[in-house]
Amino acid sequence: MIENNFKINRLNLNETVNLYGWINKIRKMGDIIFLDLRGSNGIVQIVLEKNHLDYEKVLNFKNNDIISISGKVFERKNKNKNIFSGDIEIIANKINLISAVSNQLPILPFEEITALEQVRMRYRYLDLRRPNIFNIFKIRSEFNKYTRRFFDENNFLEIETPYLTKRTYGGASELIVTSKNHLGKEYALAQSPQIYKQLLMYSGFERYYQIARCFRDEDSRSDRQLEFTQLDLEMSFINDKEIEEKIYLLIELYFEFILKNVFKKEILLPFKRITYKYALENYGSDKPDLRYENKIFDLIKNNLIKLKDKKIAKGIAFEKNISISQIKKIKKDFKDNSINFSYFFVKDGIYSEGEIKEEFKKDINKFNNFLNLSNYFVIFLISEDKNKLLNTLGEIRIKVAKKLNLANKDKLKFCWITDFPLFDKDKENNLVSSHNPFVALKDESDLEKINLKKENELLNLMSRSYDLVLNGYEIAGGSIRIRDKEIQRKIFKILKLTNEEIDRNFDWLLTAQSFATPYHGGIALGIDRILAILLKKSSIKEVIAFPKTSQGTDELSGAPSEKN
Ligand code: AMO
Repeated sequence: MIENNFKINRLNLNETVNLYGWINKIRKMGDIIFLDLRGSNGIVQIVLEKNHLDYEKVLNFKNNDIISISGKVFERKNKNKNIFSGDIEIIANKINLISAVSNQLPILPFEEITALEQVRMRYRYLDLRRPNIFNIFKIRSEFNKYTRRFFDENNFLEIETPYLTKRTYGGASELIVTSKNHLGKEYALAQSPQIYKQLLMYSGFERYYQIARCFRDEDSRSDRQLEFTQLDLEMSFINDKEIEEKIYLLIELYFEFILKNVFKKEILLPFKRITYKYALENYGSDKPDLRYENKIFDLIKNNLIKLKDKKIAKGIAFEKNISISQIKKIKKDFKDNSINFSYFFVKDGIYSEGEIKEEFKKDINKFNNFLNLSNYFVIFLISEDKNKLLNTLGEIRIKVAKKLNLANKDKLKFCWITDFPLFDKDKENNLVSSHNPFVALKDESDLEKINLKKENELLNLMSRSYDLVLNGYEIAGGSIRIRDKEIQRKIFKILKLTNEEIDRNFDWLLTAQSFATPYHGGIALGIDRILAILLKKSSIKEVIAFPKTSQGTDELSGAPSEKN
């Protein structure tokens, strides 16, 4: 039953309707008062004639007051084609004030967003009154509805897992909760349902999913929040070999379903797949934006320039032009003395301007032939550190593409990134898991073959994890899991956990693994990121009803509060 339905049109002519809503606009024209009344699903024009008993009372109503009205539907003379109810108006019979605004609103629902973010967040409930923002949450609700429909139709069970969990090792990004019943002890808020979903597979559930809130004490960015939502799932399998393919297929069909039903868009399946190594070497990133190609190339291997020392030279070319001052700004942003930054412009096959060594200028024809272009510019970097070169060029690739507007907002470029290494180095140069410590190895027997004390051998181990990337954002990550408690223990030890730490933190998982475990794997999708991309928003804050600021605070309630 819909109680406050603003979906009224000519089909309702002569009916009597009862509505309540916000006054969008009140105006007097001649002897008649016109009110635009706004409810959650539309706007309707209300008319009050001079002889009405409440006429004088209504003259005192203000924009944004809440009123109730009862009246009859008539055809309108001046129709408004822009709104659903634009053909009709309601001649008010009864009209009552429910609640009056007592303050000037700091944010007006029908004005462009000009308020500072802080103000928008402090009065988020007013910000949410804007029809286009309201629409985001309508779509988000549809998204969840169709997500549940898809997984239900594919025989998944929706199961909730705890948010109050055990603290685990590392724990750098855990948010801590205390309880009056356990003074001196702490819970950690779940960073993801990871271990619990594995345990559900050990329980024999076979297909689990959940729309789960995750909590991570990380600095917020445009694609990161302290609390965010994952579509989390896990599956068990008869055959270990087929797991990745089944998961890829399921997720591709899911996106096809969601895009068709919620966004009325078609996509081409299957998604492209590239390895982690290929992504890094060609795009300088493990989450490349493939809406534009512009691959990184090696200047030495392609015989474009010659260097006397053993340095590496990698570059990137663009056909569309950029201004010299923009390039200079990009160069200034990368003040890394270990990298030599050069660039040049070519017009009609001839060097026009740039900052490169004289000796390279004679090689411009080689570039023309290699790139098969006659108007372009190239940025290239020279250094000893290949990874640094690639990462820096990856960042330049994104910056230049932004300046040149290369990323078409209407395009959706999905791409699986596969063949990740099992381990990686963090900023402090510690060995860490590329994804998480529960990821299975590509070949478990590798652990027997290598010297576990040698970091370079460990860094060569390959994992069975994968990411899904959309338009330059990592929108999902997952893996096939370790099932064997001895292998799991070995991985923890490689990550420098002592036996005591392993037992204290993970005994519950290792014990569970001693009672037989099926082949299993899964993935988690970042719903906030997916929605922000599909709705073309620059930050995930726009798709979260009550987001935290970039400092992680809640401007609305004032959280976090002082300790009592
Ligand atoms: P992972 O840590 O890769 O995997 O997270 C999965 C996806 O969640 C999204 N995401 C975030 N979104 C907003 N704010 C954040 N702070 C944030 N952190 C992550 C990303 C990411 O791809 N348990 C594993 C999944 C698995 O192996 O099945 C996990 O959590 O889109």
